[in-house]
Amino acid sequence: MRDAGAVRWDIAMAEGALESYLRRLDRGLDRALPAINRRATMASRVRRSFSMRRCADLIGVSYAYLTKAAAQMPGFPEGTHVGRERVFTLDELMRIRALLAASAKRPRDMLAWRRPLDPLPVISFASQKGGTGKSLSAAHFAQYLSLRHGMRVGLIDADPQHTLTLYFLRDEGGMVSAETPTLVDFAGLYAHGEKAYTDHDAATLDSFFVPTPWPGTRILPASGETSEGELQIARLIRAAPKDRRFYRYVADALDRWREAHSPATDPAALTDGAGRIDEGAFGAALSETFDAIVIDYQPALTIFQLNNLLATTHLVIPQTMKGFDLATLSTFVKGMLGMIEEILARDPLEIGPGSHILLPTIVQRANDQDIAQIGSLMEQAPGLVLPVFYMRSDAVANAADLYQSAYEFDPTPGQRRGLARFVENADAVNDALVARIWPGMERGLADAWIAKFYAEEEG
Ligand SMILES: Nc1ncnc2c1ncn2[C@@H]1O[C@H](COP(=O)(O)OP(=O)(O)OP(=O)(O)O)[C@@H](O)[C@H]1O
Ligand SMILES: [Mg+2]
Repeated sequence: MRDAGAVRWDIAMAEGALESYLRRLDRGLDRALPAINRRATMASRVRRSFSMRRCADLIGVSYAYLTKAAAQMPGFPEGTHVGRERVFTLDELMRIRALLAASAKRPRDMLAWRRPLDPLPVISFASQKGGTGKSLSAAHFAQYLSLRHGMRVGLIDADPQHTLTLYFLRDEGGMVSAETPTLVDFAGLYAHGEKAYTDHDAATLDSFFVPTPWPGTRILPASGETSEGELQIARLIRAAPKDRRFYRYVADALDRWREAHSPATDPAALTDGAGRIDEGAFGAALSETFDAIVIDYQPALTIFQLNNLLATTHLVIPQTMKGFDLATLSTFVKGMLGMIEEILARDPLEIGPGSHILLPTIVQRANDQDIAQIGSLMEQAPGLVLPVFYMRSDAVANAADLYQSAYEFDPTPGQRRGLARFVENADAVNDALVARIWPGMERGLADAWIAKFYAEEEG
């Protein structure tokens, strides 16, 4: 009589070794993915549009002001009439901002574009633990900057799982071919000819950013190949000349890109003599630079991720609050600290000059432990934890089924309340992040959420 373990082993052997299993699974996935991607693409064709009232709220002007502008400005976008509503696309929203900026007292209230000497914030969403909402937070933050402030956002997907890429390039099925440049190329980590690495010029670096459906927002996509950055750096630590610092590949490339792509266009100068959008100026301005860069990390602390960290001005650590999660966080923090201390001992760099924050995520209200963990963190690390956090929400899964963010998702009537609640939550988190990165630019959305949250806690 054979024992149960041996029987299972026999079955596995009959099905073949791991290599053959993976090969068959890979073929199966290649067949299944096109159908899944097609479904997502069909859904996203019904792209979200925004009512006049919602546009006013997003821009931060009154409804009366916007309807008056719509009636008086010759180039005001027509939008689409749906029932009694007049709705606008993302592109039209950006155009409305440009028209308003031309006559606004403070044009940058309409389009929060950098001035020529303004620094470029590089905001990283990183944590060592998987599934803590890094990608979700990064995607919603980038979209919020576009929706609420008209910013041109540069996205960098540093995770071979390419979740962020799927959020922004789902119309292409999120599929990037093996030839599509990724962060590995951007950092110059592939050999070219004789050289161990390639210093791409600024124009080439810029061409690696792929346009997304969000006007002015482009993404440096990820693919499975992104994981090769780690191997390349390991090789280069031995092979590269001494003047190349193994922790500065991403930062050096980004510096090179930035120097050649300063913000030049005044947001008040996007219209022609007749008060219509100057198409040439508008199109050029949307791709001339970025007002913020958002990086989504892989759940790991590697030398390649360290490279991203060295290019970062502001670090956001999205973190769940369950049992062992804070132990993982402690490992991550000590790991980063060790790496940074080692670098600083040899190289007096300025690392991470902006403000940094821990963002509690997927918090369950019914679970006292989550709230208690946040409470004790706030007590023990005052000022280091964001007082606004992402609550667990079913609306996230509904939207994610279509590779969509909550800002894009068009809910069924039954889903409407849950979605509205999550959007309010995302707005609050993002407004709180904005307040830390661009003090004075916040809209009061975080404060309103906090007041409501604690009123409900007590009530
Ligand atoms: N507030 C939330 N409520 C419910 N589900 C959520 C919430 N935030 C994230 N999720 C879900 O949790 C999962 C992980 O989210 P996400 O991909 O953003 O995490 P991540 O940290 O980027 O993961 P990874 O470490 O794999 O990169 C996803 O299925 C997402 O839909
Ligand atoms: Mg992720």
